[in-house]
Amino acid sequence: MPLFTPGEMAKGGKSISLSLVPKCGACGLHKTCKTKKMKVFGKGRRKVLIIGEAPGATEDAIGRPFVGDSGQILRTACKQIGVNLDDDCWSYNAIICRPPGNELPESAIDHCRANVLNTIKELDPEKIILLGTAPVKSLIGHVWKEDPGGITRWAGMQIPAVDPNSWICPTYHPAFILRARDEVPMRIFTNQLRKAFALEGRPWTKAPDYEKAVRMELDDAKAAASIRVMMSFGKPIAFDYETNMIKPDSQDARIACCSVSSGDTALAFLWRKEARKAMGCLLKSQVPKIGYNMKFEDRWTIREFGHAVRNFMYDGMLDTHVLDYRTGVCSLKFQAFVLFGADDYAEPVKEYLQSKEDGGNSKNRVFDCPVRDLLLYCGVDSFLEWKVWNLRRGKK
Ligand code: URA
Repeated sequence: MPLFTPGEMAKGGKSISLSLVPKCGACGLHKTCKTKKMKVFGKGRRKVLIIGEAPGATEDAIGRPFVGDSGQILRTACKQIGVNLDDDCWSYNAIICRPPGNELPESAIDHCRANVLNTIKELDPEKIILLGTAPVKSLIGHVWKEDPGGITRWAGMQIPAVDPNSWICPTYHPAFILRARDEVPMRIFTNQLRKAFALEGRPWTKAPDYEKAVRMELDDAKAAASIRVMMSFGKPIAFDYETNMIKPDSQDARIACCSVSSGDTALAFLWRKEARKAMGCLLKSQVPKIGYNMKFEDRWTIREFGHAVRNFMYDGMLDTHVLDYRTGVCSLKFQAFVLFGADDYAEPVKEYLQSKEDGGNSKNRVFDCPVRDLLLYCGVDSFLEWKVWNLRRGKK
């Protein structure tokens, strides 16, 4: 039986790879603005880069970011937390030529993205504060393959990006605070800025590689032995199934593979013979279990072994729902990105895990997926599930 070893794995820790070819001129905005391709401004003494949406009329006339009305809101908030915008930060925008009527065309964000990425590469900031939806679309849209959505989904987060090795801290746009004319949004805005400036240094001394933690085992007997060893540690175990449909009710429903993690590493294996049997023992035992969307694992376990998961101790998805009321933030992939900087590790397997029909009872193509990709993905899942639990209980 072949055994995949970490040395054979694809390099992990994928990140915001900086693409450097700007498409200046393609948006046509340079034709109507006074200050063309507005430059970075500020001394950046605290190594913080603030990225706004686009220059407004005042900025265009003067030739500097954040000098109009909403810029004054930003300056006031910075002053309240002891920050001097021009000395301590660099200021830049997602679109660097003023769009007429302050419209923010998505195509201009795309065309201008390379300018943003080049600026980050050149300045190498420790923290990047994104003000509003346009810089979220520009920078996060570059790494988060799905539509990043608007600022409401991201505001207040502190994302430990891997490349660049910088904290990415999205918050509201000051024009929104200005329009709200209310003390509460201003306080929220100021607090989010305060938290961003309070972050120490860079997120990583050594870039994490989550895929390296995964051992893929195709020998069922060896996988079973490793599951038993993991059980003997007495530590909580995170586990995850990959299945050929979402719901286990149809006759054709099958588990393809499974993974377990007790923190330092993860073991991923095919759902067969001794490995399946060892999982049966684990799921029946009192060893505390960690999952992400417990009802899914519970239903499949009932189908396989006739009982629910014993001692299901923690469900990361439920916990995230309790901690954050926003929509679109509860998936493991999203949390893995915002908590650990792990970008879209599901990319190689995505097409195999999608069913044609909704409802959970139609088959996906999991059994056509290259085994190595599938096991790696499944292993990273349980490894990160464990990390979510560990972080939420206050450990690093
Ligand atoms: N001024 C800027 O330069 N950018 C903004 O997003 C707002 C004001």
